Amino acid sequence: MMTVPAFRARKSGPPLVVLTAYDAMTAAAAEAAGVDALLVGDSLGMVELGHDTTLPVTMDDMLHHAKAVGRRRREALLIVDMPWLSFHTGPHDAVHNAGRFVREAGVDAVKLEGGRKRVDVIRALADAEIPVMGHLGLTPQSVLPMGGYKVQGKGKDAADVLADDARAIAEAGVFSIVLEGIPSDLARRITEAVEVPTIGIGAGAACDGQVLVIHDLLGMLPGDVPKFVRRYADLHGAAKDAIRRWAADVRDRSFPSVDETYG
Ligand code: KIV
Repeated sequence: MMTVPAFRARKSGPPLVVLTAYDAMTAAAAEAAGVDALLVGDSLGMVELGHDTTLPVTMDDMLHHAKAVGRRRREALLIVDMPWLSFHTGPHDAVHNAGRFVREAGVDAVKLEGGRKRVDVIRALADAEIPVMGHLGLTPQSVLPMGGYKVQGKGKDAADVLADDARAIAEAGVFSIVLEGIPSDLARRITEAVEVPTIGIGAGAACDGQVLVIHDLLGMLPGDVPKFVRRYADLHGAAKDAIRRWAADVRDRSFPSVDETYG
């Protein structure tokens, strides 16, 4: 069984494999494939709930899905995203909301977006014995101030800000940091500067591990995927094809056959 200390100890070891999961089906597939950690990401809002951003995602949404993943989790570390506004109102609310994930869904850790301005919240969670994974760079909950989903940390000043943020949250006690949508040389610099594992998504190969959204990896949705995604399957295409064949069989009355019928 993967634990927070074991995950943290994989710094500079064999790359850590983290995959999002949102329900029992995705959790079962990722567990069976032997991932190191399951992340119930607030990407839930976009890939499962049909929103354009992660901002509408609520604590109730996250709890509902974290519980489903928790029921199927066997060996992997279980991490859940703190949704927008569940920690921005201060340490007290953050501890209360993160505690609900631990108590009600059995998660091992929470993830939250943001740099030095989240240090107080990270410290309060650590004091409450709740492990925290950080998340820097292209942080989707900042889509409004960022003006869209854009690569972050380009140029020396922006890179220095992110590197300082990484050091600040590492000192505050995160056990790992997701680096999303930043140039690979900056991801390497941060990875070398902090003592906790970095997990990249659109951040190049120098990170201590990688995370992807399972819908992107498996091609579960139609449409283009970002440059950093490698698609290993076309489940949307396979599902569409299977449903079309079944519909044709229904329409020409070849389904159900005698074998598929009770006598
Ligand atoms: O919400 C999410 O799925 C995430 C990962 C992409 C890191 O935060």
